[in-house]
Amino acid sequence: MKFLSQALVVVCATLFGSVFGDVAASTFSPARPPAIPLAVKSPYLSTWLNAGSDGGNGGYLAGQWSQFWAGQTAAWTGMIRVDGTTYTWMGAPTGPALVTQKSFEYTSTKSVFTMDVGGLVEMNITFLSTITPDDQERQSLIFSYLDVGVQSLDGKSHDVQLYTDISAEWVSGDHSAVAQWDQDTTSDGISYHKVYRQTQLLFSETADQADWGYWYYATKKVQGLSFQSGSDTTVRGNFQSNGSLPNTKDTDYRAINAQYPVFGFASDLGTVSGSVSTLYTLGLTQEQAIQFDGATGVVPLSSLWTSYFSKETDALSFVYNDFANATQTAAALDSKISSDSIGAGGQDYLTITSLAARQAFGAIQLVGNLTKQYLFLKEISSDGNIQTVDVIFPFHPILVYLKPELLKLLLDPLFENQESGQYPNMYSMHDIGSHYPNATGHPDGNDEQQPLEECGNMLIMTLAYAQRAQDKAYLTQHYKILKQWTQYLIQEALIPANQISTDDFAGSLANQTNLALKGIIGIEAMAVIANLTGNTADGANYTSIAHDYIAKWQVYGIAHDATPPHTTLGYGLNDTHGLLYNLYGDQELGLKLVPQAVYDMQSTFYPSVAETYGVPLDTRHNYTKSDWQMFAAAIASTDTKAMFISKVANWINDTPTSRAETDWYESTSGAWPVNGGQFIARPVVGGHFALLALQSQSAAGFHN
Ligand SMILES: *[C@@H]1O[C@H](CO)[C@@H](O)[C@H](O)[C@H]1NC(C)=O
Ligand SMILES: *[C@@H]1O[C@H](CO)[C@@H](O)[C@H](O)[C@H]1NC(C)=O
Ligand SMILES: *[C@@H]1O[C@H](CO)[C@@H](O)[C@H](O)[C@H]1NC(C)=O
Ligand SMILES: *[C@@H]1O[C@H](CO)[C@@H](O)[C@H](O)[C@H]1NC(C)=O
Ligand SMILES: *[C@@H]1O[C@H](CO)[C@@H](O)[C@H](O)[C@H]1NC(C)=O
Ligand SMILES: *[C@@H]1O[C@H](CO)[C@@H](O)[C@H](O)[C@H]1NC(C)=O
Ligand SMILES: *[C@@H]1O[C@H](CO)[C@@H](O)[C@H](O)[C@H]1NC(C)=O
Ligand SMILES: *[C@@H]1O[C@H](CO)[C@@H](O)[C@H](O)[C@H]1NC(C)=O
Ligand SMILES: *[C@@H]1O[C@H](CO)[C@@H](O)[C@H](O)[C@H]1NC(C)=O
Ligand SMILES: *[C@@H]1O[C@H](CO)[C@@H](O)[C@H](O)[C@H]1NC(C)=O
Repeated sequence: MKFLSQALVVVCATLFGSVFGDVAASTFSPARPPAIPLAVKSPYLSTWLNAGSDGGNGGYLAGQWSQFWAGQTAAWTGMIRVDGTTYTWMGAPTGPALVTQKSFEYTSTKSVFTMDVGGLVEMNITFLSTITPDDQERQSLIFSYLDVGVQSLDGKSHDVQLYTDISAEWVSGDHSAVAQWDQDTTSDGISYHKVYRQTQLLFSETADQADWGYWYYATKKVQGLSFQSGSDTTVRGNFQSNGSLPNTKDTDYRAINAQYPVFGFASDLGTVSGSVSTLYTLGLTQEQAIQFDGATGVVPLSSLWTSYFSKETDALSFVYNDFANATQTAAALDSKISSDSIGAGGQDYLTITSLAARQAFGAIQLVGNLTKQYLFLKEISSDGNIQTVDVIFPFHPILVYLKPELLKLLLDPLFENQESGQYPNMYSMHDIGSHYPNATGHPDGNDEQQPLEECGNMLIMTLAYAQRAQDKAYLTQHYKILKQWTQYLIQEALIPANQISTDDFAGSLANQTNLALKGIIGIEAMAVIANLTGNTADGANYTSIAHDYIAKWQVYGIAHDATPPHTTLGYGLNDTHGLLYNLYGDQELGLKLVPQAVYDMQSTFYPSVAETYGVPLDTRHNYTKSDWQMFAAAIASTDTKAMFISKVANWINDTPTSRAETDWYESTSGAWPVNGGQFIARPVVGGHFALLALQSQSAAGFHN
């Protein structure tokens, strides 16, 4: 009986294989994300493989071109020749059959594909984008790794050649722009293609890609390595017919889209029986990174890596030779996030956090020098603003969890600009510039107005940092402006005027319950700050105001007679509700301003309005936000927390959206918002670490 059924399986498999071709589907672990991060390290190195069904191929590396997050093709090609037959393992070059993808797996830093090449050899393809919160030198380098392992699958030896290229599409979003390039070898034997926009447009973007800087695609110069630059058909054709490249340079510098120039490497691996691996690194060097309107007016700021390396190729060599260290450091971070996430919310929570890590860090960039560093953040996709306070706020839990000192480096430019009198309004600015990388401020005060939101955010995040870093001096240094913003909250927080909140796409509304709560928590945060810095009269006053307000807020903002009772979207609108995500600040700062009964009430309420993929943001629409759901989950009861986590993890696996993870989607279908735009690759997924940020409480005694 047993023997018979086994025999049957073999017969079926053979039939399927021959009659239907490749029917094998890849496995996806821990989930099939909407888009797979390939090289994601900064706002300008952000290349993805679309996976969701509304524009992706389901998550297969071969057969589809990779894209810059904004949707332009960034062609990255992989082919392999085994015993004279060529196959494609990455991208969609004309000609070769595709390898069979067996599995895909992601961790916080890696995307790993396993391929079966004609039943002859196996390939392990690892995309590694490091995250090094404790190491500014490595974090400042805008490079990503591609490691390709090949070994025999059938126990026999095979003749193998490996190929990869990038196109000039990587160097500008304007594909009619002229690209220029070169090929050379460093003194320590790293062979590289250097590609760039011929006319460098400093601090400019086209379709969100940088129009300046130099791209490097590199590998070790070993025996059997050959290279070529030239048109896509020429270079790829040479490999397909010969398995090697002629070591020639095309010097006809031309438009990115004119006989698409590509930059290829071919490696003759010879006779492969055991495992052989080939490492590539791909990255961008920009000496100048940001324009910043700081204490002395607008100045250019250098990329921080320039403080460690005097030449671009020195940085390139360092990165290439650092792979062993990078692998170990990444494995340590993967394992920390894995064990902490599983502890806080199980495997489903790890599915959520590990997908978010590279996307969150991929929106930030370290600049400055060894004396003074700044961290800048791009509001990717929603409008490109730089240092948006209400984007830093949903993002900030990942930094509170991994490295609170980096949160300080994000807040510093905002303080510096406003404290030096460059912003005329008494409330906090919304952002420090309308478009990355120009942090040139808003001297006219005409930035997007979210005064209540941003004053609350600044107070909460400043204290969150200071508590974790034990940095009272930071509170003293900024006391004056923090007090100014508190004054605004005292006037405006309890009865919020008709205004937008951070969820500006939902429109404006007076008396928003959740917005008022943020302001009131901000006042109590300032009470703590005042007490910590010896301003005890202020401390007593703000404490009494915040407690008075929170008592009134519970009367205005709660539908006590509803079944079950819940907070409302707006005061007195008893048949409305919304995610009360701003309650998170009370717990993050250890304030205990809001009674436990409010937490319990919301925990009981949310499951009663949950849809398939989550709890709607509020009663106006069925769409929701993943970041705010994780804020709500972090402070919810065990069961309600588990509900949020399981719905968001299921959404990741099921969503038809095919672009770098959106934070805004329909809770019913999991698709894009029905009546809205599309949010793509936004840093707010740093908020998916909300549960873990709560585990890094301040040391005892630092509350007051
Ligand atoms: C792929 O990875 C698996 C698991 O680590 C390993 O057993 C196998 O040898 C690897 N194959 C190649 C081609 O590197
Ligand atoms: C930044 O400002 C410069 C002028 O200093 C301008 O040329 C450039 O287009 C701006 N960049 C963006 C992305 O708006
Ligand atoms: C293939 O290699 C041979 C010998 O090196 C060379 O003569 C021929 O031009 C090459 N063909 C292509 C398409 O590169
Ligand atoms: C990586 O190198 C740094 C020095 O730059 C060292 O401190 C660290 O321990 C190394 N990490 C690993 C995992 O080797
Ligand atoms: C370092 O950066 C700070 C802030 O931009 C600047 O004031 C200082 O002059 C710089 N130091 C050096 C040595 O360039
Ligand atoms: C806002 O709420 C307060 C307190 O309930 C109320 O007096 C006021 O009329 C409300 N404003 C609006 C515009 O609804
Ligand atoms: C601040 O200190 C005052 C006493 O000076 C105390 O009444 C108040 O509760 C403290 N506030 C907070 C938030 O700790
Ligand atoms: C408390 O703060 C409010 C608002 O800033 C201010 O009007 C009031 O005078 C302060 N009270 C005391 C006792 O300092
Ligand atoms: C809303 O409910 C509260 C008590 O839960 C009640 O006092 C208030 O009158 C209700 N408001 C409206 C407009 O029904
Ligand atoms: C939410 O979806 C449900 C079920 O499809 C529908 O009945 C309801 O009208 C939707 N609500 C809104 C605000 O669109």
